[in-house]
Amino acid sequence: MPDADRINPGIYCSNTEEWGTPKGLFRLLDAEFGFTLDACASVENAKCDRFFSLLDDGLSQPWKGIVWMNPPYGRTIAQWVAKAHQEAQNGATVVCLLPARTDTAYWHEHVMAADEVRFVKGRLHFDGGHETGGHNAPFPSAVVVFRPPRQAPVMVSMDRGEDATVGTRETPATDRSSQ
Ligand SMILES: C[S@@+](CC[C@H](N)C(=O)[O-])C[C@H]1O[C@@H](n2cnc3c(N)ncnc32)[C@H](O)[C@@H]1O
Repeated sequence: MPDADRINPGIYCSNTEEWGTPKGLFRLLDAEFGFTLDACASVENAKCDRFFSLLDDGLSQPWKGIVWMNPPYGRTIAQWVAKAHQEAQNGATVVCLLPARTDTAYWHEHVMAADEVRFVKGRLHFDGGHETGGHNAPFPSAVVVFRPPRQAPVMVSMDRGEDATVGTRETPATDRSSQ
């Protein structure tokens, strides 16, 4: 076994596909967003009553409602992030738990266009289900929120400007003389 595998088996293990969302983190976000669909899950680790598993192939399904997405962290992750971005354009709200790999192409193409990125302080301890005690993340994590395009205009109140002094500028004397 190469030294790197011995030092940190989690990085190289194919089970990174199954790294479950820590329960506390999900509870926190579910209280805020109220998820209606888990886009990628198994019967054992699904976070919502409605979910897509490997058999359904969440990547080829339409996503509706308020969607939770903690994708497989393998080679397909870029496809999942692209799908989350696209489904938000189609009207879903998609909240993703991602490794904060800010140097990747998918980060620059999609995450940089997200509505919100929340960088998690410290490292997560992923849920390993019943089989293992879980896995300490060998990478930093971020929660990324893709929202649907805004339908309504932005409405804010503003003053009439009658008392405003800040920002008003007297015309300089030199300019006045040339008028
Ligand atoms: C990182 S785990 C997240 C599990 C769970 N949703 C959670 O948040 O704890 C990713 C899950 O996606 C599932 N998965 C892999 N490929 C998939 C696909 N094409 N469609 C749906 N689910 C898939 C895996 O079996 C795994 O359970």
